[in-house]
Amino acid sequence: MHTVVSATSPTTVSADWLVLPLTENFSVDGELTILNRMLGGALERVRDARDFVGKLAESLVLPVVPGIAAKRLLLVGLGGADALSIAGLNRALGVAARTVSTRATDRVALSLGAFNLGKFPLAQLVQLATAAFDIGSQGQDLLKSERKRHPITQFEILTPTDGNPAELSVAAVQGQILGEAVNLARKLVNLPADAIYPESFANQAVELASGLGVHCEVLDQAALERERMGSLLAVAKGSDRPARLVYLEYNGTNQPGAKVLALVGKGVTFDSGGLSLKPTDGMLTMKCDMAGAATVLAAVLAIAKLKLPVRMIGLLGLVENMTGGRAMKLGDVLQSRAGVTIEVQNTDAEGRLVLADVLDYAVTRGADCIVDLATLTGACVVALGEEVVGAMSNNQAWCDRVLGAAQAVGEDAWQLPMFAHYDDLIKSEIADIRNVGGRWGGAITAAKFLERFVREKPWVHLDIAGPAFASSDKPHRDGGGTGVMVRTLIELARTL
Ligand code: BES
Ligand code: MN
Ligand code: ZN
Repeated sequence: MHTVVSATSPTTVSADWLVLPLTENFSVDGELTILNRMLGGALERVRDARDFVGKLAESLVLPVVPGIAAKRLLLVGLGGADALSIAGLNRALGVAARTVSTRATDRVALSLGAFNLGKFPLAQLVQLATAAFDIGSQGQDLLKSERKRHPITQFEILTPTDGNPAELSVAAVQGQILGEAVNLARKLVNLPADAIYPESFANQAVELASGLGVHCEVLDQAALERERMGSLLAVAKGSDRPARLVYLEYNGTNQPGAKVLALVGKGVTFDSGGLSLKPTDGMLTMKCDMAGAATVLAAVLAIAKLKLPVRMIGLLGLVENMTGGRAMKLGDVLQSRAGVTIEVQNTDAEGRLVLADVLDYAVTRGADCIVDLATLTGACVVALGEEVVGAMSNNQAWCDRVLGAAQAVGEDAWQLPMFAHYDDLIKSEIADIRNVGGRWGGAITAAKFLERFVREKPWVHLDIAGPAFASSDKPHRDGGGTGVMVRTLIELARTL
């Protein structure tokens, strides 16, 4: 998608679609007066007939608009002007992008002139709109002969004043980088486990990192054994696909004393549950169990493309959880890299076993502050629902920064408590800890397990089991991988 920002009038822009966002009960004045007149009063008419009043994410297609140069008009609602948020804008623009990309489309114009811009800087709107149209025009049907969504060739953002043209075109490029990052995470999640497995995932990382100034190392089986990652390796034992650990490093600043941000992702390329086998319904979507790793990869690449002045490392723990003859068994005691012994009481609680060694390794590689992302527990989905990320932390100040970044980009995350007494629930009779915490508080006991491996570094664990993968379409987004938290991580790096 090629994006341009221009001061062309919505009445004269030649495009397959003109997208016009309007606030609830919009009044026809300013920019809208002339547009409404050339449309024969259509804007007022649809509003007064209540065919379209501008409720958030409401939309109306006018397929024939002889009065203006564009071929079709799409009205999209923003809701009440005072309540308008980043999340709301993303939702409305998502609806618009999905509507115009249902068929092959050359040129889409988006008018930003008709609603009150005052609340959000123009550059932010341009960035957000570019990302939203990139995301909304890519679907999950990557392997379908006839796709449901079609990329947009040319995207033209019409701004009321010409603003600062250089600043706005930078914003469009940044928006494109964000959109492509989210789409990369979605694509990696949406590809089946037969295409994305530890080796192929690692190869993708190497390929994508090259040329961006991102250093990339891959630890294979032998290297993981040398590092004594007995916990991660145990998960991979039941699979014919060997494990991999991808280490990414990006140095955007040579400022002495710059802290190293570490992003760690769970990359279980398929989670069958292992010998504690999942039933079919639970296993059906388990190609998504590498969403944490996909999110980290996409974010690191985007941060490098944006040339943000940070020092960071990214680590992807890649394994497949299967049931082969060498699979880990219930009652096995694993030797983690950190020296902590772990009794396996459920082979389906494998994510924490992978992350244990990767978190420990991240500290060895210089992590000063850590964020891990993992589709870790069904319990987190029970607690917070499918749309909200669970946050757990050992350091409130660091957690507040991560939550602040999520809020700034309109992604919903909510903190769960980490009281010390939860530690009792993961005690084992025969080892230092066990990998399950019993029936209650499952999202938190999983986090308590991880906490043992971060060596007291400021750390936030983001459980994305609910929001990383959507089982069905919604008007504003396609089902499948969502790319949740990619924008939050980029924002976090931006504000460090
Ligand atoms: N990958 C799953 C968690 C999951 C569930 C992700 C639903 C996405 C959607 C994880 O490995 C798992 O199986 N967790 C178990 C832990 C339990 C055995 C302690 C769970 O949540 O049931
Ligand atoms: Mn599992
Ligand atoms: Zn899992």
